[in-house]
Amino acid sequence: MPESAARKAARLTTAIVGVGNLGSTLARHLVRRDEPVVLASKDGSRAEALADELGPLARAASVEDAITGADVVVFALWLDADKELIPQYARLLEDKVVVDPSNPIGFDEKGQVMRTLPARQSAGSVVAALLPAGAHYVKAFGSLSAESLAEGAYREPRRAVLFYATDDDAAATTIERLIRTAGFDPLKAGGSADAGRIEGPGGDLNQFGLKGELVDLDRARAVVAAEPPG
Ligand SMILES: NC(=O)c1ccc[n+]([C@@H]2O[C@H](COP(=O)([O-])OP(=O)(O)OC[C@H]3O[C@@H](n4cnc5c(N)ncnc54)[C@H](OP(=O)(O)O)[C@@H]3O)[C@@H](O)[C@H]2O)c1
Repeated sequence: MPESAARKAARLTTAIVGVGNLGSTLARHLVRRDEPVVLASKDGSRAEALADELGPLARAASVEDAITGADVVVFALWLDADKELIPQYARLLEDKVVVDPSNPIGFDEKGQVMRTLPARQSAGSVVAALLPAGAHYVKAFGSLSAESLAEGAYREPRRAVLFYATDDDAAATTIERLIRTAGFDPLKAGGSADAGRIEGPGGDLNQFGLKGELVDLDRARAVVAAEPPG
């Protein structure tokens, strides 16, 4: 099969629920590489505006319609919104790949970054626990700031890495493809129990833990292999 036909055949529809800093960046990356996206936001207007900007491969929908029509669902929401929203749509998530970029991050009264969960509890464990048994969960796309995710795509001469964590082979295959499509090299950090390593603040493989660095594959393999601190 010619390359373009093979790419088309493998094309998935990705629902992005939440089109703020992170969700909009991801939507732009995917559409730039011919991937269809369905966009949903709280009041719908931001999703509509982004769909208009991105053209025919993007459309806005309600959360329910976006999830129903998608192969992959990215919840680009704050953790509190995840906790409120996912249980309402859990039945629709059976057999879907569910991508979770959430971080246990908040800001104190001085505007300083703080963790919103205890040190050993990951945001991933909270989100995964909300999903039905048949969902294919993967932690991904949240290990860099939205700005770095936007600017670090298709880096030359060596791609920057996006880490992911999952126990699910189908989710791993899908996320590797989406990470490559977005312009990064994928690297598995471990199973779902390792999701905290790529979350920030606190995770040694999150951009915070890597002191802002966007690592290439060699460096990423070395840091994954090193024992996580603590
Ligand atoms: N920003 C970053 O640099 C970054 C980096 C890595 C990971 N993350 C993670 O990504 C997640 C999103 O962060 P963000 O900065 O993109 O947030 P954001 O800019 O505040 O955007 C949040 C989005 O969630 C939507 N939303 C909220 N409640 C909703 C609901 N009930 N139904 C549908 N949509 C709803 C909002 O809709 P409206 O547009 O209608 O308000 C908005 O589009 C967080 O978990 C964060 O930790 C962010």
